[in-house]
Order: sequence, then C-alpha cells, then structure tokens
Amino acid sequence: MADTPPSLSFEVAPGGALRGPLQVPGDKSISHRAVMLAALAEGETAISGFLEGADSLATLAAFRAMGVQAEGPEQGRLRVQGVGLHGLQAPADALDLGNSGTSMRLLCGLLAGQSFATTLIGDASLSRRPMGRVIEPLTQMGARIEATPEGRAPLRVLPAKQLSGIDYRMPVASAQVKSSLLLAGLYAQGETSVREPAVTRDHTERMLQAFGYPLRREGDRVCLSGGGRLHATALRIPADISSAAFFLVGASIAPGSDLTLTEVGLNPTRIGVINILRGMGADIAIERPRELGGEPVGDLRVRSAPLRGIAIPEDQVPLAIDEFPALCVAAACADGPTLVRGAAELRVKESDRIQVMADGLSTLGVDVEPQPDGMRIEGAGAAAQLDGGTVDAYGDHRIAMAFAMAALRATSPIVIRDCANVETSFPGFAAASAGVGLPITEQRGATDA
Ligand code: S3P
Repeated sequence: MADTPPSLSFEVAPGGALRGPLQVPGDKSISHRAVMLAALAEGETAISGFLEGADSLATLAAFRAMGVQAEGPEQGRLRVQGVGLHGLQAPADALDLGNSGTSMRLLCGLLAGQSFATTLIGDASLSRRPMGRVIEPLTQMGARIEATPEGRAPLRVLPAKQLSGIDYRMPVASAQVKSSLLLAGLYAQGETSVREPAVTRDHTERMLQAFGYPLRREGDRVCLSGGGRLHATALRIPADISSAAFFLVGASIAPGSDLTLTEVGLNPTRIGVINILRGMGADIAIERPRELGGEPVGDLRVRSAPLRGIAIPEDQVPLAIDEFPALCVAAACADGPTLVRGAAELRVKESDRIQVMADGLSTLGVDVEPQPDGMRIEGAGAAAQLDGGTVDAYGDHRIAMAFAMAALRATSPIVIRDCANVETSFPGFAAASAGVGLPITEQRGATDA
C-alpha cells in the first residue's frame, strides 16, 4: 500500500461572499485520458490546461515508468512523445496510483492488452474500492487480472494471449468501466461494444475521435474495433466543472456573491450540477459558450439566490455524481427537504460520501437521514445559518472542499480534518478560495486520523 499523505486541516472563518473571476484547474477526467491516449499515439501531443493534481500526475508517472517521454507539466503545459499502441515497456516497479480510481480502472483495461505484467497499487482509500466491476468484463475479454479475494487492489495485470471484443451491458452507470473496456478494445480482436444503463461522461469517446480512432455511437451503446491507430494531436483541457461546483454552491448560498468561473467544461454528460442547482433556484448564467478541443466550454456567472429543496431527478445523478458533497451543502442551506435517491455509487467513492456528508452536516446542526442509495436533507432555510464545528473529510478531497463552502453560511468557524487529498484534484484550492473571498487557514501536521 502506498504512503498516506501528511495530515492537513482547514480552518475556515464564517461568513463572507464570493466575488470576482476565477479559473479553476483543468478537468481531471480529461487530463487522465489526455496522457493515456497521447502516450499510445504516434507522434508528439501538446496538451495545455493539464491538471497538475496528484491523481493526473499519478497517471503521468505510470506512463513515464513504462518508457514514455514527456516534458512538463509546467503551468498546465505538457508534451508527450507517443510510443504507439504497442510501444510501452514493462515498468521496473509497481505503478502507484495513489488515491486515483480513474487511473486504476482505466489502466486495468489498457494494460490488459500489453505483453508484459504490471502491478497496480494505491493508497488506503483506493485499496478499499471495488475493482471487480472492471476485472469481470475484462476477464470475459480474455484479460488475466489478479486481485485480493474481495476484488480489490493490489492488482496484477498479466499478459493475455489475445483479447477478444465483447458486447457488454454495464450493471452500473460507470464511465470508468466503459472507458476501461474501450481501452482494452483497442487491443482486442473484433468489436468491443459497451452499453450503459444511464448516460455517463463521454470524454473517452470524444478523445478517441480527436486522436483519429474510429468509433461508433448508437443510442446507449458505443463500439470500436481493435487494430487501429491513434494519431497525435493538440489538446486544450477546459477547467473542471467538478472543481467549479464548489464555487457554484458557495456563491449561491453566500449573500452578496457574484462570481464568474471561466472556461469551464460544459460537456452535457457533466452538467448535472448546473441543472440541479437551477432546479433549486440558483442563478447561474452560461456566458460565452464555445468549443475547446472537442469539448463545449463557457463562463459561468453565479449570483447568490435563495435555494429551495427538491427531489433530485434520478436521471441527473450520473451527470452530477462527483458533485453530491457540494450539492448536500446547497441542500443544507435551502428551504425545505432535498431528496437524493438512486445514488448508491456515492458509497464507494473516495469515501462513503453518504455517511461522511451526513455525519459532517449533523455536526453543523443539519437534520440528515442517510439511506442506502441516497439521503434526505432537511434544509436549514434559505436565510438560516449553520453551526460551526469540527468535521472530518476522511481523506476525501470533495468532502473537504464542500465543507469549506459551508463556512460561508456558518455562525462560527468550521475546522475540517484530513484534507491533504484536496491536492488530488484541486491544487491551490485554499489560495483560489482566498482570492475570491473565502480565506482558509491550512494547518499541517494536525491530528488527523
Ligand atoms: C470518472 C468517472 C466517475 C467519477 C470519477 C471520474 C472518470 O466514476 O466519479 O471521479 O473520469 O471516468 P464512475 O465511472 O465510477 O462513476
């Protein structure tokens, strides 16, 4: 198991408003895929807007360990010398993917097609997360992957004789599973086809097309055939809507806020958070909609507005799956109850996000009832304040950032423990927050679990 990061707590002063322009770091999902496809392409790919967070850097380090040359990243700029689909080399050691589920699940598929064996390890959280969801269909394709008896990391991906395409209907709506199978499909004989029970993020499909790889989409199904090639290209990665989400919520709940988040990725498979917040009464305008490297982007202007609780439509859940910690804070500051259903996946993210949010919100005086597949949050009221207090992020980056926003509506400071993993997706979060009106004091070496 990989080392745990040094402990870090946030102390966030109560009250305030969010104002100004802010560009949050590059999209995490797209950054992972950019490195993977650039490494497997023929030629040099220049990437800008790359997320220099621990998760995407873990993916980059994995490819460097497999012989891929890359220059950077420096201020989001990265140049990757592609080695072609068959040019990776056996790494000398296990690939340590830290906290990153996306790295581990996507790499499982990609590595299943290599002629060498690899060991994949991660931190305590990643080592608890279910990997059977990729191992099972990849095994059907002919992959040989060893895991713990519970289907968890460490994983050993052994060379397969030959992968064969399958027609797979995913039991869970997961972009990671879909992407893992598509990456294995690049190495498979015949056609690999994946069907999803609900729409999930389609960055892999878009990026494969950007690298010139033929791919077919038919309704809920995406298909590709092995044996093609990826051609290097230039990629500009938009700001991550999942990181912008904290500020969308913060500016909505803090009276007097007027914030513009620039160049945010607005892929229709990711904008559940905007749809849900608007359903709650949020004032979010999309300005300067445009396209950037095959992905829609825009600036998001958000002004504070009284929020009301809603029953979150289940079809929005996969489109906002990473935004529930932030949405729970919005619900806590709304008039009336908010109901989340059909979101059992939240229990197997970087933490059990249903339980961890319920525990923290209860500390802040909010009435929350966790359920197996969601929760009911009794909003304190659109003009009411939350209590301050000490909450635990359990090493989950998105929990930490969500509770930082809650301080905007608290009567006294909120201390958040175990925040070091904010670095996985949003390096510089405390400075970015301070720059728009939410000062966060970081305490290193505090008494984290
Ligand atoms: C991701 C897909 C989602 C998401 C994760 C990133 C991706 O996971 O929660 O943060 O980049 O494909 P699932 O596919 O497991 O829902």
